Amino acid sequence: MNHETVVLSTTSDFSGWRAWARKLLHDRVPADTIRWTVEAPSDLYASSTTRILPTAPSTTSVPRSLATLFPAVFVSEAPERFQLLYITLQTLRDDMTVPDELSKQLLGLAAGSRKRVLDLRCQMPDARSPECQIIRTSHAAALIDSQATALSNLRPTPWAIVAPERTLFWDGQECRFGPALEDDISEPSEMIAAARNIATAGSGNAWWDGIAPVRLHPVATDIASSPSLANLRGQAIDCQMCDLCGPATRTVSGEGNPDAEIIFVGEQPGDQEDLQGRPFVGPAGQLFDQALREAGGNRAQAWITNAVKHFKFVPKGRRRIHQKPDSTEISACSPWLAAERKVLAPKVTVMLGVTGASAVLGRQVTVSRERSRHIALADGSIGLVTVHPSYLLRLPDEESKTREYTKFVTDLRMAISALAG
Ligand code: URA
Repeated sequence: MNHETVVLSTTSDFSGWRAWARKLLHDRVPADTIRWTVEAPSDLYASSTTRILPTAPSTTSVPRSLATLFPAVFVSEAPERFQLLYITLQTLRDDMTVPDELSKQLLGLAAGSRKRVLDLRCQMPDARSPECQIIRTSHAAALIDSQATALSNLRPTPWAIVAPERTLFWDGQECRFGPALEDDISEPSEMIAAARNIATAGSGNAWWDGIAPVRLHPVATDIASSPSLANLRGQAIDCQMCDLCGPATRTVSGEGNPDAEIIFVGEQPGDQEDLQGRPFVGPAGQLFDQALREAGGNRAQAWITNAVKHFKFVPKGRRRIHQKPDSTEISACSPWLAAERKVLAPKVTVMLGVTGASAVLGRQVTVSRERSRHIALADGSIGLVTVHPSYLLRLPDEESKTREYTKFVTDLRMAISALAG
């Protein structure tokens, strides 16, 4: 029997695997005659662009439910993963049903990758520190590579990942990929310098070839069973529950004190929030911070979030003009807010404006009619509706601004006072 050996350029060479699989399927090469291997680049600075991949027409259509598992299986740690994926394609090409045993294996491997991805994301440092941070992890290179873009979105400030077979360095602008560090360096600044030196710049280098686009696409059931706020945050990076994820820069998850007894729910991230990846950091957020302090509270004790986690806008020249999310977008995003409130179990939920209020209360709300009083929420906790701080920014004259600001501070004070009860 003839054997085919396919050499993938890196463990994350999903596009190489796909091109070879397509060709071998087209030539009807049986799975058990193929040996899939991975060859790490010998030259650190080699460019991957010289690699020639076979071309062949596609012979197989893969149902969406299986196709979404492929990249996650690809970055799993099972040595037989390439072959299992090929067998799956071969079965589908021959119009046969994928056996339960094989589906179960694929699901198990994908679930394992998903767990490791979340674990890696939860290891990422706090985005608020401008200092370069080091993450030491034991995850495999394929998994780390597959997450490079998501991780730089999650933590835009510089970091270096140091793992047994991979060094990944993000300087705030671009990712650099390289093999493991040879020396066991304990001094942080030396480690950062070593990581920067060893890693080759950007995509297109031999250590970052055809990143497997692992998209976890969380679904409502995953979100509802999420055990922690950090886990929710990790999953939310890949949220595609509505179309807002396309144009937005990133998901802006809630943040704050995970033991907070009070949660503030706004509408959606604005321009600044979308760029910085944090809620309420733009002009409305600054006004909110000021009012919260005057009311006797502070952000460090609170959890701050939004009903919708992606920025909705229309471009106008170089500006991005805020658009109100519609009811479909609010309800698509509602599992995140529900899960955040379930995990946090706050005593008090403050709804900032009509979108936050309708998302929490699950019905239409007229803020002027329902504001400034304690509302009993379905879970037995207390809610309070008030205006959104950007409403105060939009008021045309100083007199109404001062009057409405004072009422806003009074509302926040009323919410904080409910904590004592
Ligand atoms: N407006 C909001 O509703 N949320 C933010 O995070 C910022 C502005």
